[in-house]
Amino acid sequence: MPEWMLLLIAYLLGSIPSAIIVCKAMNLGDPRLNGSRNPGATNVMRLGGRQAALLTLLGDLSKGAAAILLAILVSAEPEVQGWTMLAAVCGHLFPFFSSLRGGKGVATTLGCTLLLSWPLALCQLLFWGLVFLLGRISSLASIATAAVTPLFCYLLIPHLLLPFAITAVLLVLRHSSNIRKLLAGREHRF
Ligand code: G3P
Repeated sequence: MPEWMLLLIAYLLGSIPSAIIVCKAMNLGDPRLNGSRNPGATNVMRLGGRQAALLTLLGDLSKGAAAILLAILVSAEPEVQGWTMLAAVCGHLFPFFSSLRGGKGVATTLGCTLLLSWPLALCQLLFWGLVFLLGRISSLASIATAAVTPLFCYLLIPHLLLPFAITAVLLVLRHSSNIRKLLAGREHRF
């Protein structure tokens, strides 16, 4: 398969709006109009509770994992697998299927990382959990994990540092409204 086609399929997979589909199926309204207005598992948790959030999380994890699985199945080079992650995350952030208004990319990145390097995914999960336990703030845990991921990546899979670093920058930028709320002490705690 040509690389451009792999990246396009990864982008389209990333574009699948899990949060919107789950909220529609469970009559929870549009997550882009309620709560933090982010179509992601954290906001679905606010709007519909654990079950809805878990389904959203699984959907976003799976689409990332599916993109990397496809890259592995077509024997893409490891570096190309890294760019496949970036394409899937861009699909989630700027989705073709919902007017380029997407989520923040945390679960989709984790889904990709699980197949690219499970030790890195484990580090991300443990770090996210630790920061969340300290502050009970999902966005803070996500921002801190995105910020530290390039370091974990450098230590574990240095050949994929560039796509992981670009993904981390995109994720932090995508949390700019959360950063403003955190600085003002107005961010939502669980
Ligand atoms: O992964 C998204 C999370 O970090 C923040 O979500 O809804 O609080 O903006 P939210």
